[in-house]
Amino acid sequence: MKVLSVLGSPRRNGNTAKLQTVFEGALAPDHRVEHIELQGLRIAGCRECLACRKGGELQTRCSVEDDMTALYASVLSCDALVLAMPVFMWSYTAQAKAFLDRLFALDAGTGPKLLGKKTALILSGGGDAFDGADLIVAGFMKFAAFNGMQHIGQVVAAPMEEGVIERYIESALKALAKSLCTP
Ligand SMILES: Cc1cc2nc3c(=O)[nH]c(=O)nc-3n(C[C@H](O)[C@H](O)[C@H](O)COP(=O)(O)O)c2cc1C
Repeated sequence: MKVLSVLGSPRRNGNTAKLQTVFEGALAPDHRVEHIELQGLRIAGCRECLACRKGGELQTRCSVEDDMTALYASVLSCDALVLAMPVFMWSYTAQAKAFLDRLFALDAGTGPKLLGKKTALILSGGGDAFDGADLIVAGFMKFAAFNGMQHIGQVVAAPMEEGVIERYIESALKALAKSLCTP
């Protein structure tokens, strides 16, 4: 099984990255992990040109040529997509939002390209779990359902404070890794 582990935080060594590292380390060794950091990549917002829908069933790609072009291949070849990000303004980070919007080019409108893939979320927040993480989970579950993906679950570290990973988040991340890898 190939797990695509995407960091949607602007901080490469921040709170979310720490969670993602624990999660990736907990995946069984026979699973392949592709680790992607959105920060620093050039991913423009969806232009809503709908070119992805004009090419019929064979059209797989977006008309915008940027770093997302290569990421489509990574998404298409994975069995599980895990998105790790902090809560920003009760919502996705800009990096994660652009990535998810651009996945519109792969949805059922051009054939069910993401159908059956698993998804999971890893979130960190400064407030509690109801200070935006809840809204991200709700929206992301709709994204997964829209694409026929199977949302396995999420780990929410909020508030993300000193020692919180060791106290209770580490075991939750290990459990998420285990359930993601269970057929
Ligand atoms: C611009 C900005 C907006 C934020 N908005 C929220 C929010 O709405 N809810 C929340 O719980 N935390 C919010 N936070 C706090 C971050 O989610 C939190 O510090 C997180 O752990 C940072 O993760 P990182 O180190 O990976 O960037 C915000 C932080 C920033 C910088």
